[in-house]
Amino acid sequence: MRRVKLGKTGIEVSRLGIGTGTGLPSGHCAQALMDKNELAELLLYSFDCGINLWDTAFQYNTYPHIKEALKQVSRKDVVLATKLTTANEKETIRDFNITLKDLNIDYVDVCLLHGVRSKIEFQKRLGAFNAMVELKEEGKTRTVGLSSHGLSALKCVLEIPEIDVVWARINYAGLNMDTDSLGIYDQLASIYWLKKCVKLLPKRVLSLIRPKADSQLIPDDERKEVENTLQNIHSQSKGIVGMKVLAEGVLRNDAKKAVKHVNTLPFVDSFIIGMLNKKEIDENCKIVNTMSGKLEGVEK
Ligand SMILES: NC(=O)c1ccc[n+]([C@@H]2O[C@H](COP(=O)([O-])OP(=O)(O)OC[C@H]3O[C@@H](n4cnc5c(N)ncnc54)[C@H](OP(=O)(O)O)[C@@H]3O)[C@@H](O)[C@H]2O)c1
Repeated sequence: MRRVKLGKTGIEVSRLGIGTGTGLPSGHCAQALMDKNELAELLLYSFDCGINLWDTAFQYNTYPHIKEALKQVSRKDVVLATKLTTANEKETIRDFNITLKDLNIDYVDVCLLHGVRSKIEFQKRLGAFNAMVELKEEGKTRTVGLSSHGLSALKCVLEIPEIDVVWARINYAGLNMDTDSLGIYDQLASIYWLKKCVKLLPKRVLSLIRPKADSQLIPDDERKEVENTLQNIHSQSKGIVGMKVLAEGVLRNDAKKAVKHVNTLPFVDSFIIGMLNKKEIDENCKIVNTMSGKLEGVEK
């Protein structure tokens, strides 16, 4: 598996990374429902296939599984990315320390503000972001950034020099990508105190109001704007990791096309896919490996 530079961070990641936060229609995380050893084995299998980028988040409940997998590899050989849904400094320090403790590690490679939906939300959570910058200065995270869930949030990346990396939703179909036309769930969740209430809703209710990937097709002009914004971010040498490559599985019948599409985008350094079994890892690695060498602007 080809390794690429994650922007100018000095970190080298595999072109394909593995996600551990695939949402089920029930609102649960598919990987969190897996047995601890089962997901650990899958992560280690991906590692043997050359995948060194493992994506998690405080919210996914997959820290126990990752901790198990980390027992079997050298810490420095894995690029571990996590995300926090925090809004201020106090919460960030609290959740970050829990993260290190739960994973039994002393640093993460990437620490992101989780799921930022708009510029206004980023501004409201600035205290949390600044705390992450301080954690970076203390050597507890190697990079900081955000995972974007909205176009105006994505554009913030261009304006904030301290942002090293961004996780952005991208797929060939334009499904569930970063738009500013927020649905009801995103509108509620972009207001911090309401987000806390939304999270308390039963999973059944949440699954009714949460936007479904197959119903969230963004208009062509917005999709172009997302791609142009990512291109501009790339020109600033910030790291870009694509996610939702298969639109949460909606594109599973066109998996080859979906993976190939993102693999040809020159502004995407690496991309994570929620792979739930060895067959999916094999298939996706095969596509990326077969295409290796044909890309421009990517390290060999
Ligand atoms: N930053 C954020 O806010 C945020 C939010 C959500 C997720 N994430 C991260 O991004 C990762 C990726 O997102 P995601 O998992 O939701 O969506 P995704 O990667 O677009 O889709 C995952 C689904 O694709 C299917 N799949 C993968 N490889 C396949 C293949 N070769 N053939 C057929 N189907 C295949 C699997 O479906 P089946 O096995 O079910 O068929 C899997 O459940 C997550 O795991 C998580 O780590 C981040």
